[in-house]
Amino acid sequence: MEKKFKRTTVTSALPYANGPVHIGHLAGVYVPADIYVRYLRLKGEEVLFVGGSDEHGVPVTQRARKEGITPQDVVDRYHNIIKESFKEFGISFDVYSRTTSDVHHKFASDFFRKLYDEGKLVEQSTMQFYDEKTGKFLTDRDVVGECPYCHKQAYGNQCEEGCGRALEPTELINPRSKETGETPVLKETKNWYLPLNEYQQWLKEWILEGHKEWRPNVYGQCKSWLDMDLQPRAMTRDLDWGIPVPVEGADGKVLYVWFDAPIGYISNTKELCDNEPEKWGTWEKWWQDEGTRLLHFIGKDNIVFHCIIFPTMMKAHGGYVMPDNVPSNEFLNLEDDKISTSRNWAVWLHEYLVDFPGKQDVLRYVLTANAPETKDNNFTWRDFQARNNNELVAVYGNFVNRALVLTHKYFDGKVPACGALTDYDKATVAEFMDVKAEVEKLLDTFKFREAQKEAMNLARIGNKYLADTEPWKLAKTDMERVGTILNLSLQLAANLAIAFEPFLPFSSEKLRGMLGMETFEWNQLGSTDLLAAGHQLGKAELLFEKIEDSAIDAQMQRLEDIKKANEAANYKANPVKPTVSFEDWEKLDIRVGTVLECERVPKMKKLLKFKIADGLADRTIVSGIAEHYAPEELVGKQVLFIANFAPRQFKNGLVSEGMILSAENYDGSLAVTSLLREVKPGSEVK
Ligand code: 2FM
Ligand code: ZN
Repeated sequence: MEKKFKRTTVTSALPYANGPVHIGHLAGVYVPADIYVRYLRLKGEEVLFVGGSDEHGVPVTQRARKEGITPQDVVDRYHNIIKESFKEFGISFDVYSRTTSDVHHKFASDFFRKLYDEGKLVEQSTMQFYDEKTGKFLTDRDVVGECPYCHKQAYGNQCEEGCGRALEPTELINPRSKETGETPVLKETKNWYLPLNEYQQWLKEWILEGHKEWRPNVYGQCKSWLDMDLQPRAMTRDLDWGIPVPVEGADGKVLYVWFDAPIGYISNTKELCDNEPEKWGTWEKWWQDEGTRLLHFIGKDNIVFHCIIFPTMMKAHGGYVMPDNVPSNEFLNLEDDKISTSRNWAVWLHEYLVDFPGKQDVLRYVLTANAPETKDNNFTWRDFQARNNNELVAVYGNFVNRALVLTHKYFDGKVPACGALTDYDKATVAEFMDVKAEVEKLLDTFKFREAQKEAMNLARIGNKYLADTEPWKLAKTDMERVGTILNLSLQLAANLAIAFEPFLPFSSEKLRGMLGMETFEWNQLGSTDLLAAGHQLGKAELLFEKIEDSAIDAQMQRLEDIKKANEAANYKANPVKPTVSFEDWEKLDIRVGTVLECERVPKMKKLLKFKIADGLADRTIVSGIAEHYAPEELVGKQVLFIANFAPRQFKNGLVSEGMILSAENYDGSLAVTSLLREVKPGSEVK
């Protein structure tokens, strides 16, 4: 039998504060969590939505080192940028705090200490790489060296540039510290481990038996972990950025970031409850009361931490409720390529806000329509434009606008009375009444993509209704009928404002303003009495605007530029060819020529034909650089050419008497070689 809960605690993964957030974050975690929370609130349920920044961990220290600033500077900067982006996109957290807060440090420290005092952690010594120059232990990613399999440069945990294998740092050939370049030494270190193996049986029963309803991707990942033997996992690290391990003799050690980050959900709740106890009650109510349902919204790389490690931490501690569900998404790609912060391959939220001001709902809509719920999915700018223009503008916006404009035209903006309904009217009403149950069923099972589609269906019903009944044609003959049609259309528009509130909160608010709807709740969905006859409507404005090709072209150009910049940054010169002797070099006769004439070759789009002054009898050279230079760019210039290159005949009979030298750039473009100072044509290159 399904359990009845009194309240719901919704957490959304705490993003690392080592960079801004992008569409992948929004699509994977924050939009679905926000839709769900808004839905519960609209239903009048008791719900808490927790967010915050994850401010510890190696990525923060790496960025600090790269920029020559402190880790605290890094997290201060990005915490604020991230918090602002979420606010702008309407992600309606009840609390958004950070893991560098005092409340969090104390909470996480006490949590660890309780596990330690009760003997729930095991002490283990291991050998780890240590940089004697800095006096620091090195994390796996701080060690670089040659991959033992493919011999490319690799990190201590993975050969990213080569064969992709997972590695141990000790496997690397010629390991070095990434920071100092020193050869690290192996040194013994003691850390505290969570004995996951002792909880394996309980985890199996709780998840594999008790939560078969979890999404297949989540359940499947848990099963593959639980089918293997779980190993104890270190909960402390030899690092200097993080929460100090609250144990005597643990100097230079901090809590593992994946130990402290999920505790951040609880400490952020505590911060909120301590600040507003009359509104929120105690933090324990949201985390320890049996009547609380706990949900974690995350991306797929976080599944093991939220389904196995964090629950084990809470179980070992005692007193906590377990997550009831962990709706995890797969990944979102951008234009068929993996989103990557380091390659700048992303649509950053703070930049989107500048390029598309006021269009937060458009992005929310597109990301939900393409949500990577069951498999990785793809964001493309063309699809973004098409969904805006063909769905938001042409279906939702168009219907609402027609209903409002016609009411202003025929009834001075007052809701007309509803007369007798025809069979067709009744069928339409019946159809849109079904939408409530359908959307609810989908939202209750975290199928946001389908739920949004169903909400959009309401607008399609409305458009069809107006197109079929054609009130504008009846205006001269039957105003009562026109009134009925518009009354029903306006009721439908009011339904849309409710149905879309969780998905598109900004547009919903705007629509409510136009309709003059003061109160609204989920249970009114499906009603045909939302707007009373005689009720005065507000001004009709466009709910959505068309996005022009030029705006999309600019985004495509930006991505193209990023791709080029990445290729340039990754360019590595080819290895040098085998050595040649001086005698061999002398055989080549390289000379300077002045371009007298240059023209395209008919039907040969790659070729340019040159007349070159070579200090002798002038010569013709044909060169494959027509895609890189316009002929007039080269006339009068001095170029280098091989004068004793065997003549070559082309298909059309042209003969080339030499070869012009060009350099091939990383992207395949060619640059003709020239001189820094003018010389006589025919001068030899020595
Ligand atoms: O993967 C990440 O971005 C992590 N910072 C998520 C942490 S979720 C929670 F545990 F805080
Ligand atoms: Zn490799």
